[in-house]
Amino acid sequence: MAVIADKCPDINVVVVDINKNRIKLWNDNDYSKLPIYEPGLDDVIRRCRNNNLWFSTDIKENIATSDMIFISVNTPTKTKGVGAGEASNLKWVESCAREVAIHAKGHTIVVEKSTLPVRTAEVIKNILEASQAKKNNSEKNSFDVLSNPEFLAEGSAIRDLEYPDRVLIGGDNPIAMNALGGIYENWVKKEKILYTNLWSSELAKLTANAFLAQRISSINSISALCEATGADVREVSRAIGTDHRIGSKFLDSGPGFGGSCFKKDILNLVYLSKYFKLPEVASFWESVVTLNNWHQNRVSRLIVEKLFGTLSCKKIAILGFSFKANTNDTRESAAIQICKNLIEEGAILHIHDPKVDVKQIEKDLNMKPIIDEEVKNLNKTNLGMWKMVKNLEDVFEEIDATLILTEWEDYSKINWQSASKKMRSPSWVFDSRSVVNQKNVIDAGLNFWRIGDGSSN
Ligand code: UGA
Repeated sequence: MAVIADKCPDINVVVVDINKNRIKLWNDNDYSKLPIYEPGLDDVIRRCRNNNLWFSTDIKENIATSDMIFISVNTPTKTKGVGAGEASNLKWVESCAREVAIHAKGHTIVVEKSTLPVRTAEVIKNILEASQAKKNNSEKNSFDVLSNPEFLAEGSAIRDLEYPDRVLIGGDNPIAMNALGGIYENWVKKEKILYTNLWSSELAKLTANAFLAQRISSINSISALCEATGADVREVSRAIGTDHRIGSKFLDSGPGFGGSCFKKDILNLVYLSKYFKLPEVASFWESVVTLNNWHQNRVSRLIVEKLFGTLSCKKIAILGFSFKANTNDTRESAAIQICKNLIEEGAILHIHDPKVDVKQIEKDLNMKPIIDEEVKNLNKTNLGMWKMVKNLEDVFEEIDATLILTEWEDYSKINWQSASKKMRSPSWVFDSRSVVNQKNVIDAGLNFWRIGDGSSN
């Protein structure tokens, strides 16, 4: 919405939320307090806020005065009831539709921006239409429902929005579709704006994420084979990526994909396939998630093996907790499962991340951090534990191993000579993101393992 405001000075954009605190932070003059860390977003907000971009909790008034409303709420996986663990919980989408139905005036175009299961537009349409049924003709309002899925990736969101590969608009009324297309035409070439029916648009979003995730599971599965055979997954990726039919993107083997969408969207696809009685299709996509879970556990198992079969009382530096670099988002981050496994094995983790807050890690690991004094006493108990280390230089103190889980740029610049002086001996560097220079680590007298490298095993 901020980018739309930035690119379309003639359009007034109002972002509304029921969460007062969040709206307060979006309006804060201290830009470091914005609720989302996203490179470049603060500059956009600086340019537009209170010009043609507002953040407000006045939902009723803003629905009534808007011509177009984007529903952009989260759709987490259901945890209970029908479809638990797979289907999306549409509670928030539904309640948005009900709010719009009550307060909208005249003709309103309702746009699904949230990633939704196929045929959700029908649910929204039903709610909107039912709300008008009992009204006199003179009081009736009208609606169009469009699907306009978002393809931006976190960390590069502003660039992805400014230079999108495509903008997808699904609907059944060309007038409404053109109205939305017209907004994007302020900065996106006409040829890049694709118009489809509603269901294709909804399904294309899920499919795009499923294909991307599938590539990562594919290359991660090959990384295990590389380690077993002496091949190198980076060389394999380069070799296959030069085939223009395959392409070079999304072929970096890592600790397993994370983020709020990949797993959720695939599970949604699995649920849909089962619902439509297509069990083979469901199990094909389910295997992408199964492989990802297996791969995350593989990384922690391997660390136990390298450290002589036990992590009890061993200190391990964890570099990076976010699900990828340039974001403070930890949702479904591989770091969560891997750290839990290491703690379960009795390890003491020194966690560093330039952007993730200690409170978030506490929530993700479901465990309080310890303070230094406690380490000395608890050390004898063989219990796993963790603490946060603010400065990167301090993370190496007395550790037995370093595990890199996020590809933050700072980690590629570590001076391993000086780090190794602080570490216990023998000590290991496990690089799950291929960001460190192998020679520098080995020259510093450290053992080295990296993902998918048969020669470092
Ligand atoms: C993903 C899609 O890339 C976006 O197109 C989509 O709009 C978005 O989900 C969404 O639906 O919200 P995002 O989750 O922000 O974007 O991040 P990605 O860059 O796709 O990375 C996802 C995970 O895959 C990360 O954990 C990343 O480290 C991992 N990854 C990515 C790899 O392990 N290897 C790669 O080569 C690429």
